[in-house]
Amino acid sequence: MANQGQDIQVAIDLLSAGKLVAIPTETVYGLAANALNSDAVVRIFEAKNRPRFNPLIVHIAGLGEMSKYVESLPEAALKLAEAFWPGPLTLLLPRKNTIPDLVTADSPHVAIRVPRHPLTLALLEVLDFPLAAPSANPFGYISPTSAAHVQQQLGHKVDYILDGGHAEVGLESTIVGFDDEGNPVLYRLGGLSLEAIEAVAGTVTDGRNLSAKPAASGMLKSHYAPDTALYLGPVEENLEKLYGKKIGALVFQHLIPGIPEAWQRVLSPTGDLAEAAKRLFTCLHELDALELDAVISSEVPEQGLGRAINDRLRRAQAIFKTPY
Ligand code: TXA
Ligand code: MG
Repeated sequence: MANQGQDIQVAIDLLSAGKLVAIPTETVYGLAANALNSDAVVRIFEAKNRPRFNPLIVHIAGLGEMSKYVESLPEAALKLAEAFWPGPLTLLLPRKNTIPDLVTADSPHVAIRVPRHPLTLALLEVLDFPLAAPSANPFGYISPTSAAHVQQQLGHKVDYILDGGHAEVGLESTIVGFDDEGNPVLYRLGGLSLEAIEAVAGTVTDGRNLSAKPAASGMLKSHYAPDTALYLGPVEENLEKLYGKKIGALVFQHLIPGIPEAWQRVLSPTGDLAEAAKRLFTCLHELDALELDAVISSEVPEQGLGRAINDRLRRAQAIFKTPY
């Protein structure tokens, strides 16, 4: 078990000494280290069991810090940063060599964002370095939305957990880069909706399939997978296919008759996509802990945060497609 609390000074001391601290953000908890210290950053990869070719997001205190780490900034990037930072938006921008190669996995671009959580913002304001932080889960597993999730998954590998309560948004940040003309390109759906981004920066092209080598690990098909098999699709069909198994359900608004209530989680009884996003990973964690044979689920409306929710559901099922 890691020490856990709300003591920023403890976090400052540990991070300054090159140690790992789990930090709360509005999206998910991050596993943070001094982004300018390669020895500290290596520990992140080791703790997560994460391949080194998979780059990390750099967290800064505010837009004013950006010029230390970013070479140039298209106009659309500035508009987006001004509109949505602090918030669930990561920008992929040409980096300065102040950022170690390990952080960007040798890419000429750095992923950068200002997180929206008072404890972590206060921490970043005091530190004289930015924080490299992936989601605080073992590679390929569900992201943590509470300090308890971090304890369960990485408690033995992190030096302190800064407890900031349940994540307010509950989905990882949306990742946006820019083409040669400075137009926005989507690399990962996330906690900021496409609609909100397009309202500020115009049409966003989809960069999620641009190259064979994924630019973002969130693009790997099986990412965000729970241990229990997840069946996404028509309820009746899946119930029939899984007849005789111990089945749970992750539903948007309404319980499924015939499945014990204790084995079901409702994302949002009122059909609110923001509430559903906030609860998604927590519900998956809870269902996973029940040791069911399978969990059935259906997609939510494909709009706003619903797109990112569906993206995570599809990835969660990909790895365990048809064990039965
Ligand atoms: O909301 C979030 O983004 C959370 C919180 C902690 O900030 N972080 C997060 O980090 O989700 P992670 O490492 O789980 O996902 C970051 C994604 C990865 O898929 C990574 O490949 C991509 O961002 N990424 C980071 N730096 C990149 C770069 N330089 N070029 C391309 N992709 C990059
Ligand atoms: Mg992650």
